Amino acid sequence: MRKNIVAGNWKMNTTLEEGVELANNVNALLKDTKANCEVIVCVPFTHLTSVNAVIEPELVKMGAENCSEHEKGAYTGEVSAAMVKSTGADYVILGHSERRQYFGENNEQLLKKTQLALANGLKPIFCVGEVLEERENGSYNDVVKSQVEALFSLSPDDFSKIVIAYEPVWAIGTGKTATAEQAQDMHAHIRKVVEEKYGKEIADNTSILYGGSCKPSNAKELFAKPDVDGGLIGGASLKAEDFLGIVEAFN
Ligand code: PGA
Repeated sequence: MRKNIVAGNWKMNTTLEEGVELANNVNALLKDTKANCEVIVCVPFTHLTSVNAVIEPELVKMGAENCSEHEKGAYTGEVSAAMVKSTGADYVILGHSERRQYFGENNEQLLKKTQLALANGLKPIFCVGEVLEERENGSYNDVVKSQVEALFSLSPDDFSKIVIAYEPVWAIGTGKTATAEQAQDMHAHIRKVVEEKYGKEIADNTSILYGGSCKPSNAKELFAKPDVDGGLIGGASLKAEDFLGIVEAFN
């Protein structure tokens, strides 16, 4: 059966020293509180190796926040999936709305990134979600469906390694959370879209996380919904106690 997951997305926050301290604190808190879910910290590229050195893999897993759509070579400033994997990372966030919005990442690039991540043994946390206008004009189900369909050339075996994160863009960093019902409706929709392509077994085994102003005070209600398998946490992952408060929503 699918895994429950709480993943932090630090974004462009923390210096190396601050990041190592945060990872250390998360790890220390998880020694005291047994988590009933997989806990992941997704950290800036510059922090990966150092964070990996302070976390215990049975308590906390690590991911990057992006990787290149190119395998290797003359792409100054890019970081490849193989490089990310070589730091000890298990996961990589792909297609975050900030990447789509500010860096123009499109479905074709995201498919290439996903393929390279998988080929290098990384599990993609693939983000989808509508903007406010699409929520208001009622096209949100179609928008999210087409974002998920961007991966439908993957083999069933590859698709089964993907974690999906539904992050309504209007809820990210805004303090506005989707209601638990809105999240459940969308997660059930995503699961149905996956089922129609890959069948019930893969759909039932796909973890679908909610992201967007998730915090200790609302995590329990969101995670109680049958198709919400955890969260991708931005702001509240930057304080170890808040992040742990969200992890404890599964206890
Ligand atoms: P937020 O961000 O929790 O700060 O809203 C979530 C995300 O963007 O992954």
